Amino acid sequence: MHQSLGNCQSFEQLDQALHIQADNAKVWVQVWSPTLLQIQICIHDAKEDFSYALDSSPEKTPITITDSADRITLQTASFKLEINKAPLRFAFYTIDGQLINQDDPAFGTCWLGHQITTYKSLQADETFIGLGEKGGNVQRRGSSWTNWNTDAFAYGVDTDPLYTTFPFYIGLHSGLTYGIYFDNSAKSHFNFGASNHRFSSFSAQDGDMNYFFFAGPTVKDIVLEYAKLTGTMPLPPKWSLGYQQCRYSYYPDKEIKEIAQTFRDKNIPCDVMYFDIHYMQDYKLFTWDEARFPDPKKLLQELRAQGFRSVPIIDPGVKIEPGYDAFESGLEQDIFAKYPDGEPFSADVWPGTCYFPDFTKPEGRTWWKQQMHKVTSVGFAGFWNDMNEPASWGQDMPDLIGFDYENHPTTHIKARNVYGMQMARATYEASKDDFAGKRPFVLTRAGFSGVQRYAAVWTGDNTSSDESMLLGARMVTNLGLAGVPFAGYDAGGFIGDASPNLYKRWISLGAFSPFFRGHSQINTKRSEPWSYGEEAEEVARNYISLRYRLMPYIYAAFAQASETGMPVARSLLLDYQDDPQVLAPKFQNQYQFGPSFLVCPIESEKQLEEIYLPEGQWYDLHNDTALAGSQTHIVKCPTYRLPVFVKASSIVPMQSVTQHMDEKPSDVLTLHIYNGTQENDFVYYEDDGESFDYQNQMYYRQHIRFDPKTKTLAWSKAQGKYISQCTSLRIYWHGFDSLHTCTIEGRSVPLQKQDYVFIPPVSNFDPFYTEQDQTLCIKNLPYIEVPLRASAFEVSYI
Ligand code: GLC
Repeated sequence: MHQSLGNCQSFEQLDQALHIQADNAKVWVQVWSPTLLQIQICIHDAKEDFSYALDSSPEKTPITITDSADRITLQTASFKLEINKAPLRFAFYTIDGQLINQDDPAFGTCWLGHQITTYKSLQADETFIGLGEKGGNVQRRGSSWTNWNTDAFAYGVDTDPLYTTFPFYIGLHSGLTYGIYFDNSAKSHFNFGASNHRFSSFSAQDGDMNYFFFAGPTVKDIVLEYAKLTGTMPLPPKWSLGYQQCRYSYYPDKEIKEIAQTFRDKNIPCDVMYFDIHYMQDYKLFTWDEARFPDPKKLLQELRAQGFRSVPIIDPGVKIEPGYDAFESGLEQDIFAKYPDGEPFSADVWPGTCYFPDFTKPEGRTWWKQQMHKVTSVGFAGFWNDMNEPASWGQDMPDLIGFDYENHPTTHIKARNVYGMQMARATYEASKDDFAGKRPFVLTRAGFSGVQRYAAVWTGDNTSSDESMLLGARMVTNLGLAGVPFAGYDAGGFIGDASPNLYKRWISLGAFSPFFRGHSQINTKRSEPWSYGEEAEEVARNYISLRYRLMPYIYAAFAQASETGMPVARSLLLDYQDDPQVLAPKFQNQYQFGPSFLVCPIESEKQLEEIYLPEGQWYDLHNDTALAGSQTHIVKCPTYRLPVFVKASSIVPMQSVTQHMDEKPSDVLTLHIYNGTQENDFVYYEDDGESFDYQNQMYYRQHIRFDPKTKTLAWSKAQGKYISQCTSLRIYWHGFDSLHTCTIEGRSVPLQKQDYVFIPPVSNFDPFYTEQDQTLCIKNLPYIEVPLRASAFEVSYI
């Protein structure tokens, strides 16, 4: 039998919180901001107050409470919570009385054994999005999902659960938008009207009902407030935004050197070389295979001299082997996860039978940091945490294994979903301690809400298929909505061999992914850009080079993400939530990359595709063709050209191509302005790209405003103490057909013209095909050159 809350017996107000005593539970209602409220319901003696996810505290918020015979009303400036006393139920309304969200009148919140569930009445036109890295369609009504971090090798479009857990979703109905974050790390389940027409629900196998309600009013507001609640990503080192090359595995040292050299010989930009498990002695953590890698320090120095950073894989399992330092010291310091009878839990993974550090134990993380010195001192610049669900052969860790959970002892049921995040945290903190002021880079497979504070997330072992590529684009966009802006996938696919066309599509798409890495599994085709023939190599060079040219634009998007939580790969719902087409399965893979680009992922064999452009006017990136929004278009998409569109009124800063981030681009900052009818702002951002000095104002930040009404482009006075590395500006005017004069401070600046190319045509490899693609060039594009100044200045045009 289910047990429900019963009735409200009494309540008291404590500042901006309520404490309610119900027949069968205690309830706390806490206001965090005018649009955010937490409800905690507990049948145990004490509520759980510890959360790994949260990174902020309630802000002072005026509220009013009114009490009547049958209900208590709590009101903030933005919404009302009506608490029905008998039975105890919760309903959220707008200030003017529209229902946003309400408990199922009969069930509300109730228990079945230890399992706790909240049931919410399903609204007629309600749609749902969210849960981060999940398969299926973006629109989740009619589906249900489980959160239980899982090693999902070769997952398909509908495989669930996957590697990470983000118990956060957004509901939309009747023009209203709300969000719910269920702050419970136990195995959880979300039902958005699957096999029922009555409710949406969220439940956990153990612990309290503890959820945050975001009152909107828009998807964007909710996403930003959720990011604030769980903490935004610290600014990553700039080199980690470059292209990264991986394989399971590159060895011996000679092979890594050859590959690195080939990137430089072929002029294909790349910043990172990965070391997968074969660098270790028999896959044992913190060791080197000395036959394959006789002098790792020297190797890493040589790579560094060529402009490469090195990143090794670091898994959690510690091999049981007497005499092996990690094993002996882990035992001695008592940091391994254990059965309740005190025996350490053992299972098999790459090195053989292993123990697993308890990363939820502060001493476990301290031990990890000591161990990490062995690798931080060799010269690695970042770390890749894998298998941290945790994975083991058999994939069924017993639920009774104990974990410390920050001195709140618990079991695997509650600890599993945060295990990977705490491993990433320990790795992040170790790097921060050891890297003397340099920004760490950690990549993780498993994670939980808040993981963005420590690591970038990649979507694990995908397959070389069109479906997997499209799903990856959706998952990365969904991760953006769940607070993780730095996310990506194995471009080319990890498992199986991509066709040359699939590789071309994927590498061009990856150039517009926040995290950009090529990787492939042992015994499959390699994913270096030259592995798929000459044409694919040119396509890869073109798109990887374009990414480097776009670095000022991308870095500004990362700076914004780090400050505000705004995603880098952006769901179209952020700007166009009232447009039903953006959730249509046919167009659901499209996303915005930063504020200006609309990217359309395309299957490998398609030459034509129907795409949808939301409201406004758009330009084809490659040739400036203007296209109207709020409608579909059939576009040509040969495999050397990914359909990417630029929003009217955009401001896109670019630089000259470099082969890696240490190479200085030319000192000309290029600015592409796209004509439009709307005013628009861009916040240009620079810093040294690798230290934390930006936290002490060592940055260069300048607002650029395009105003078509006054026909001006205005720069604010630069903020910060950093001196821009650019001295001049080259401004390209896209779509300004009748442009004839530009002036700066009353003086006219010579208008010049040039044919401009974002992606050059690929060479003609087919003797029967002689036509060159004419649609890859913008003919006679007007531009001007002016000095870049840190003081405010303005360019006018007519
Ligand atoms: C896992 C990872 C994969 C890695 C492999 C070997 O399958 O997801 O990226 O290459 O392990 O370490």
